[in-house]
Amino acid sequence: MNIPQHVAIIMDGNGRWAKKQNKPRAYGHLTGTDNVRNIAIKADELGIKVLTLYAFSTENWKRPKEEIDYLMSLPEVFIDKFLKELMERNIKIETIGDLSALPVKTVKVLNTAINKTKKNKGMILVFALNYGGRSDIVNAVNSIIKNGNVNSITEQDINNHISTKDYPEVDLMIRTSLDYRISNFLLWQLSYAEFIFVDCYWPDFNGERFAEAIAEYTNRQRRFGGLL
Ligand code: IPE
Ligand code: IPE
Ligand code: MG
Repeated sequence: MNIPQHVAIIMDGNGRWAKKQNKPRAYGHLTGTDNVRNIAIKADELGIKVLTLYAFSTENWKRPKEEIDYLMSLPEVFIDKFLKELMERNIKIETIGDLSALPVKTVKVLNTAINKTKKNKGMILVFALNYGGRSDIVNAVNSIIKNGNVNSITEQDINNHISTKDYPEVDLMIRTSLDYRISNFLLWQLSYAEFIFVDCYWPDFNGERFAEAIAEYTNRQRRFGGLL
């Protein structure tokens, strides 16, 4: 089987990674942010077209304010450190999720990066920020209704209005840290994706492990309900 076109990752375990070495959770998040660069570069090298990373869920607002504030400062850290390299690799940055609830500064930094990379023709690096799979579906349905005159809708209507409408289907979903759940990530989009759960925390998930996950994917048989 070919390598996946679209890989989505639940980057989980920053806090546990930090705790293991008696460091504050923020240190785990910072190290995890550096790791986004490593995995993005590896994905690009492997020829993946779209890499979608779950960075902040609609449920993560339940965390202490201090942690949320820190997480909201990380897009800027990431962009300051790595935008130049991403540009050189022709990588395009995009986001899914409701950015309007994020701090103004965070949105500004993200929009600058989106604008600077918008003409890049290489891999698309998508950050899911204030993203929830359920609200993605609800938003899609609402925008269909807004278009007017709707008595019933089709799967294709939702495909045309969901946040990932411009990307290929998600082929592979990876979650680090050995929690076996979707946590409200791409509910609609994962219907026939392959799942790989990796037994290390996100900051330890390096390029080599990512390549191993891709190799495992290529050994899977996808049947989509049919027969081989
Ligand atoms: C993932 O790491 C990052 C975010 C959810 C923002 P966690 O912060 O969830 O780390 P654990 O799961 O508590 O170890
Ligand atoms: C999922 O991780 C969200 C992100 C990685 C951004 P969580 O740590 O929030 O998920 P739960 O709470 O363990 O399900
Ligand atoms: Mg977690």
